[in-house]
Amino acid sequence: MSRVAHPAGPRYADVLPADHPPAPPADLNALNPAIWPRNTARDTISGAMTIGGLDVRELAGGFGTPAFVTDERDVRERCREYVEAFGGGTRVCYAAKAFCSRAVLRWVTEEGLGVDVCTDGELTVALSAGVAPESITMHGNNKLLSEIERAAAAGVGHIVVDSFEEIARLAHVAGQSGTRPKVLLRVTTGVEAHTHEFMATAHDDQKFGFSLASGAADEAVRRVLTMPSLDFKGLHSHIGSQIFDAAGFEVAAHRVIELASRIHAEHGVAISELDLGGGFGIAYTEDDDPPDVRSLAKSLRAIVSAQCEAAGLPEPELTIEPGRGIIGPSTVTLYEVGTIKDVDGLRTYVSVDGGMSDNVRTALYDASYTCVLASRTSEAPPMLSRVVGRHCESGDIVVRHCYLPADLAPGDLLAVAATGAYCWSLASNYNHLPRPGVVAVRDGAARAIVRRETLDDLLALDVG
Ligand SMILES: Cc1ncc(COP(=O)(O)O)c(C=O)c1O
Repeated sequence: MSRVAHPAGPRYADVLPADHPPAPPADLNALNPAIWPRNTARDTISGAMTIGGLDVRELAGGFGTPAFVTDERDVRERCREYVEAFGGGTRVCYAAKAFCSRAVLRWVTEEGLGVDVCTDGELTVALSAGVAPESITMHGNNKLLSEIERAAAAGVGHIVVDSFEEIARLAHVAGQSGTRPKVLLRVTTGVEAHTHEFMATAHDDQKFGFSLASGAADEAVRRVLTMPSLDFKGLHSHIGSQIFDAAGFEVAAHRVIELASRIHAEHGVAISELDLGGGFGIAYTEDDDPPDVRSLAKSLRAIVSAQCEAAGLPEPELTIEPGRGIIGPSTVTLYEVGTIKDVDGLRTYVSVDGGMSDNVRTALYDASYTCVLASRTSEAPPMLSRVVGRHCESGDIVVRHCYLPADLAPGDLLAVAATGAYCWSLASNYNHLPRPGVVAVRDGAARAIVRRETLDDLLALDVG
């Protein structure tokens, strides 16, 4: 596949991948439980997909398409699995950037999770959802002064500091307001992890955190410790996303614990908290094989214990921050099929009524997704397809390679799996498309948790 960009953006379909065409699945109607939300099935009579006991045709009729449909029980069960797997002594915080709505933040907090936010917007949603301020962690590489003031005034549980300016600002704000926020210091470990691969470098060419390699992290700790209005608790590291393997965490933890040892030697302070961030992978397609949460938890705990023991340090309280791992698999996007275009000898382009405005991950990260015909089953032969949106952009691709039945027709419903994380939250109004709503389903009942936008919403912003 050509990855060469031209001035108008990447060109697609000009070079076929070496493995083209991929093999069709054995059964086009099958719903692999590792990929689809847990309460997804096919109606035994109509063959239509049901989620949380509801027929997708009714959901589409009632809420319109495109629509994000979220299986509440799936989200809650995943929260419980993280909490149980990591056990006492580990805080599990949901990373709200993956998808931030009041309903979801209520579900996750009811299941015992804390919440990570990284802007005033996310903080506002969390506070208005009734999330206890002390269970909120505030992130961000460029927190505005107003955000720092708001977080301190709200009594946010932890603030993860990310720059020297911020240490000074936060200390000043805390001093003025008579608060003493708990502070974690974000450290750049030089480890970058993705799926099974990770890269460990000695340099840190990125905007987040204090570099370990340059000594900035040591200096940042010195400065935090001189500020009486800051309560230094420990260190934070986030190494990547969609990680299947604990090896990257091992290298990162090793480097962070080395810093903890230096802090102990220089200041006589043992860190009491260590936040290893998020990034735990999920299955988007048949090719993905994420580890189960229990084995991941076991590995991470063992890594931290071993590193602390080797360094002669007491074990800090551990925090993890899954976003995708909680919300990603719970949600599908329902689209209605529009035009179907056979590009001879290559594939069939299936256009749907959304696109890169509701799922930019394919264009942005070359992400892979699984989709099926959802409104019925079909015994027609497989047709190599590409699901595309309706935006004025040839890179407007939702599912790059998939097989759909050859009798697919306009008006059919398609479902794309595992769209709970970083789809709605990265959604845009490109080409003035109103953003889809999010519908929560549970035990045969559906309710909108994020209302679908209308053209009037968009016009209301246009005050010129
Ligand atoms: C600091 C931090 N924590 C947690 C996360 C959540 O990552 P994921 O959704 O991959 O679990 C991110 C994602 O970018 C992050 O930057």
